[in-house]
Amino acid sequence: MAYISEVMGCGGYLPAKILTNQELAQTLDTTDEWIVERTGIHRRHIADNGQLTSDLAVQAAKQALEQADLSADDIDCIIVATTTPDHPFPATAARVQSKLGASKAFAFDIQAVCSGFVYGLAVADNFIRTGQAKIVLFIGAETMSRLLDWHDRRTCILFGDGAGALLLKASSSPSSLSSGVLSTHLFSDGHHYDALYVDDTIRIDALSRGVIRMQGREIFKSAVEKIGQAVQKALDNHKLTANDIDWFVPHQANQRIIMGVCERFSIPVEKMVLTIAEHANTSAASIPLALNTAVQDGRIQKGHLVLIEAMGGGLTWGSSLIRW
Ligand code: COA
Repeated sequence: MAYISEVMGCGGYLPAKILTNQELAQTLDTTDEWIVERTGIHRRHIADNGQLTSDLAVQAAKQALEQADLSADDIDCIIVATTTPDHPFPATAARVQSKLGASKAFAFDIQAVCSGFVYGLAVADNFIRTGQAKIVLFIGAETMSRLLDWHDRRTCILFGDGAGALLLKASSSPSSLSSGVLSTHLFSDGHHYDALYVDDTIRIDALSRGVIRMQGREIFKSAVEKIGQAVQKALDNHKLTANDIDWFVPHQANQRIIMGVCERFSIPVEKMVLTIAEHANTSAASIPLALNTAVQDGRIQKGHLVLIEAMGGGLTWGSSLIRW
């Protein structure tokens, strides 16, 4: 029996605490105007002390379960895409499993930084396609604020905390284009390892810890080119054009990068889901947060064709087409 991964529900969670550009400008040599013009970001949400990535993930997961009308007992597999796990090990997914009480699931994390959601979707989809899991809870969750050097204006303005979740269910389908995850396309190039990286290990409570270092210009230039490659691959794979897409839901890293991709493929801005202003770059959480926003406000509806893409540290990049 051939299976496809159908989307049953989604959810999103942003911590209550908001840090605006104006607030940042009180302690950093920057301005609201500079940040908005160069990135499209207006504010970001910051996890409270003691609020961990798994806490954010659980909130998003509960919303997805409710939307899908499923219970934690139904879940076979939990995958958390994160760069900011609660601890280096065990996997944050194991904690999510315990907090949800999803006793029959197996659980693990995947790490592909800002491409984490596309990479994790590929993993989840393959578990379903091979019949190894029937219901997968897939979450992108991050506390990026814990990886920031708050004195580095080139990086700390860009990131925020949040989580988004997707519930996927195996269903048998007569045609591969009818519904669900149609395909995923993954790429990486380790030659650019040093363009975007954390310069030490994660030690949440320690005084000394790793922080993000980034060659912003290099990342910017690579992004439009590599995302373009991933988008083209997804479209070519199904003999589609950008005209066939109902919604373009990109990784929310920089509005100018997103606009560059839209221009290249002549995707009208009305089809673009843009949430970066509200939560900045939440790494693996940004696509599901944007998906959830567009589902909640009624833009994405059953049957719509959704294109997602991401690029991040590694470098890693990828795309996917989902028939909602
Ligand atoms: N506020 C004010 N000025 C700032 C600033 C800030 N927050 N950050 C940098 N600048 C200054 C720089 O110091 C530099 O000044 P100088 O010329 O006097 O040295 C000037 O602005 C230009 O810096 P540059 O880094 O070349 O700016 P940019 O136009 O490339 O914009 C980014 C910087 C980070 C917004 C942009 O490079 C970017 O978005 N890159 C991609 C980042 C990304 O998406 N990363 C995540 C990928 S998942």
